[in-house]
Amino acid sequence: MSSSIQMRTTYSGLVDESLLGQTVRLCGWVNRRRDHGGVIFVDLRDREGYVQVVCDPDRPEMFKTAEGLRNEFCIQVTGVVRARPEGTTNDGLKSGKIEVLCHELAVLNASVTPPFQLDDENLSETTRLMHRVLDLRRPYMQKNIMLRYKVAMEVRKFLDANGFIDIETPMLTKSTPEGARDYLVPSRVHDGMFFALPQSPQLFKQLLMVSGFDRYYQITKCFRDEDLRADRQPEFTQIDVETSFMKEEEIRTMFEGMIRSTFQNVLGIDIGAFPVMKHADAMRLYGSDKPDLRVKMEFTELTDVMKDVDFKVFSGPANAEDGRVVGLRVPGGSEMPRSEIDAYTEFVKIYGAKGLAYIKVNEKAKGRDGLQSPIVKNLHDAAINAVLERTGAQDGDLVFFGADKAKVVNDAIGALRVKIGHSELGKKNGLLEGEWRPLWVVDFPMFEFDEEGQRWNAVHHPFTSPKDGHEDWLETDPGRCLAKAYDAVLNGIELGGGSVRIHREDVQSKVFRALKIGAEEAKLKFGFLLDALQYGAPPHGGIAIGLDRFVMLMTGAESLRDVIAFPKTQRAQDLLTQAPGPVDEKQLRELHIRLRNPTPA
Ligand code: AMO
Ligand code: AMP
Repeated sequence: MSSSIQMRTTYSGLVDESLLGQTVRLCGWVNRRRDHGGVIFVDLRDREGYVQVVCDPDRPEMFKTAEGLRNEFCIQVTGVVRARPEGTTNDGLKSGKIEVLCHELAVLNASVTPPFQLDDENLSETTRLMHRVLDLRRPYMQKNIMLRYKVAMEVRKFLDANGFIDIETPMLTKSTPEGARDYLVPSRVHDGMFFALPQSPQLFKQLLMVSGFDRYYQITKCFRDEDLRADRQPEFTQIDVETSFMKEEEIRTMFEGMIRSTFQNVLGIDIGAFPVMKHADAMRLYGSDKPDLRVKMEFTELTDVMKDVDFKVFSGPANAEDGRVVGLRVPGGSEMPRSEIDAYTEFVKIYGAKGLAYIKVNEKAKGRDGLQSPIVKNLHDAAINAVLERTGAQDGDLVFFGADKAKVVNDAIGALRVKIGHSELGKKNGLLEGEWRPLWVVDFPMFEFDEEGQRWNAVHHPFTSPKDGHEDWLETDPGRCLAKAYDAVLNGIELGGGSVRIHREDVQSKVFRALKIGAEEAKLKFGFLLDALQYGAPPHGGIAIGLDRFVMLMTGAESLRDVIAFPKTQRAQDLLTQAPGPVDEKQLRELHIRLRNPTPA
């Protein structure tokens, strides 16, 4: 096509030396206009990057237009690519060696003054989310959103090549049991009835297996009304897959391949094979079911040796049924100033810990005299020796202690481990290693006991198959039952989770009984699944990878909000559209709804 009829011949950010001497036509936004005594420079921006446009006064009409340019005007530039004068090149830009000498300039649309300078690095998130349209124009967000697209494309290519087919499942559906609160949609046609937005397509993908589609996938929205954190959104996207006739290991191998090849094809990085770790080992060594393996520290079990010490803080939990005492050796940690130890003591309180005992190992050869600590006086020699021996602590190290209910110890010391690993001291002393550390966590328990409700809950979801041979404990000893469930973990973040499902109706009923879901309730909630299982349901299983988290890790973003075009705040609001918002009385009446606390008009 001749350049005279094209609105644009190339992207601004792609103009480079290969186009020297050629006429180009560019469209984009004015990032900045700089007046240099007689010459005007315009940094033109589009989704691919920046190019420097030079406007000389020897074309008076064009120059006059250039004088009127302001930030964020949308313009069209026709000009010739030339080398930048020596000393003015910019290695940070693809277009850094060239500039475009402007011949013609057209304002396609003016802009009012933006509420902020787009290259301001210190914008508050509220400002960014309120003005999301402009925020999304910034190179940082453009890069993230485009990378997200590349990830989705690579995933689709991989799944397509492996025979998975994309099948849509309903958004207006029945409550699904992922354990979060549902978003409900009232039915106009059926007075008093509600749809639930899916927390995941879990049940539908299982039904598709019974229907014989064999391999399903979908990149789809899921909705969960739960308390939000940096890595949680009320609506988020899953790469959701299910397959028939594959064993647990085969499923893991397949999706490890998907994650690795996506990293390879998008970032050019091989993140390496995923080691497989049992859930029990992850809890024992790291106090977490999603350990950050970049951090080179492990828990040391001390529960047994603290049973008969005088120190009640330790002996109490050591003798309690659900108690645990652990040590965390911090190599080189004795240089830690008191203020840092105090800050960590405050930090572990977030997780319910009541304190943070420690021993600084100054000179091991001197026995207890070589130790500096507020607690050694309370510990007998055998306990001290066990601490030193089991942790392997050397002169210059520090050992922290956690003693409480196992859950508190795991949460508190687990979080402390990660925090110290990523601290200045951790980095300096080599406690942080490697850039990407994936793993599989497997053999999750089937159930966890809910202290408040005094009942067993499914750890993954109630359709997860018990390990072979564990079915018999479903009703007699639920706590002992392990599941064919697995999580893909990367750098301390749960990327995805899945399981082999129950494909027999009798086993499914047993699990419901263990969960105290009665036959009536099961029929009401999941009758359609139980029915389907009776018609020769195939062995099947799958996984769902959180796309938002996947992209967050790849971009290095600190929040999911930076990889979602239009996210919600921590308070589950969309600041751009101001959703949620009130609706008028007529709509409510149609939906048969009366508000308990009507919003003041
Ligand atoms: P699960 O509930 O573990 O499994 O979810 C799978 C993955 O989805 C992501 N994720 C989230 N991402 C952002 N915000 C959230 N609120 C959020 N909740 C979950 C995580 C998580 O690992 N149906 C099963 C999957 C299966 O068994 O196949 C399920 O939904 O990355
Ligand atoms: P106390 O005897 O309560 O003054 O505590 C002595 C030391 O033990 C202090 O360093 C506390 O921070 C620490 N400590 C108290 N409770 C715990 C606990 N549950 N786990 C670990 N350390 C604790």
